[in-house]
Amino acid sequence: MTATDPPRTASPAPPSELLPTLPGRYYTDPAVFAREQERILEARWFCAVRSADLARPGAFRTASVGRESVLVCRNRSGGVRAFLNVCRHRGARLCTAEAGEVRRSLQCPYHAWTYDLDGRLTAAPNMADMPGVDRGERGLLGVHVREWLGYVWVCLAQEPPSFDETVRATVARRLGGEEAVERYGAEGLALGRRISYDVAANWKLVIENFMECYHCGTIHPELTDVLPEFAEGYAAQYYVGHGARFGDDVAGFTVDGTAGFARIDGVGEEQDRRYYAVTVPPQVFVNLVPDHVIVHRMFPLAPDRTLIECDWLYSPEVVDSGADLSRSVELFDRVNRQDFAACERCQPAMSSRAYRDGGVLVPVEHHIAEFHSWVGDLIGDPPG
Ligand code: FES
Ligand SMILES: [Fe+2]
Repeated sequence: MTATDPPRTASPAPPSELLPTLPGRYYTDPAVFAREQERILEARWFCAVRSADLARPGAFRTASVGRESVLVCRNRSGGVRAFLNVCRHRGARLCTAEAGEVRRSLQCPYHAWTYDLDGRLTAAPNMADMPGVDRGERGLLGVHVREWLGYVWVCLAQEPPSFDETVRATVARRLGGEEAVERYGAEGLALGRRISYDVAANWKLVIENFMECYHCGTIHPELTDVLPEFAEGYAAQYYVGHGARFGDDVAGFTVDGTAGFARIDGVGEEQDRRYYAVTVPPQVFVNLVPDHVIVHRMFPLAPDRTLIECDWLYSPEVVDSGADLSRSVELFDRVNRQDFAACERCQPAMSSRAYRDGGVLVPVEHHIAEFHSWVGDLIGDPPG
């Protein structure tokens, strides 16, 4: 520890104590997953798309949020709107593509009902002969939208929870203040690389894995070379405001410890040569290093399937220069593959009788119990 390290003050539990995990069925039972879709994925703020992927008016993306497909688009005045991706005529899915661009309206491919980019029904075949169709009442159903850190967050609840008291507060609590993440200026960074991972594991196994580093010494040789303290098993997320220090002989956050790129403008001296991480349940994991930001968005698709989209973000000058990002990207790509292989190794065992009552959290994993309580409080006693 150096003089600049913040105090390590996270775990209230006695160090020798073992805490229980969730029982195995929480990771396999369709009834549990249905509850989570309804009460978590469709009820909380969900990080759906990157704002810059909606570059111009008419650009759209679709995202799976719980049981719904959500259509996110940029309107004529440059704002972001999000709708349930369902035509109000007879229910066809309006946009089947993951991404695209329209000129000024969204037209249903079934009977050609047409909506503007604010979701208003503007035209339909034979509209003049159908006085019963009230355009004002038949627009697309909107969902709540917020933009933060360069991403569009949506909430499908009628009355969404406070974004500040949930998402922003979680980040502030873990990093010791919101400015710790805002200094990286993620909304002004450019996408260097995006990799999607289709993982055969329950979304909670993925979140739990991201929260702890007990496994780092076993499965992440490249990461522990760059961040030697990770070999001790204490994740950056274990301590409030703590950034894991790069090893003395490490030049940058790259797969072989060679130099990365210049520090992002705004990142402070005390944040240099440090790695910070924060999980924002239910589905976001952010990593901060001096020259880039890595954002994971998880899309739980089934009890045993989670799609993960991971973005590597750099200063626009770095991306525009055509610099070789491969060593930089490869470090966390390897970490991701190692992590997801571990999650996939656990998933089949979740339905074993050996795991009926779950497993245990050792002291360096105790903060995962907070995540379990969060899930439990939201879904209540699941049926069955
Ligand atoms: S279902 Fe969309 S126009 Fe008929
Ligand atoms: Fe890991």
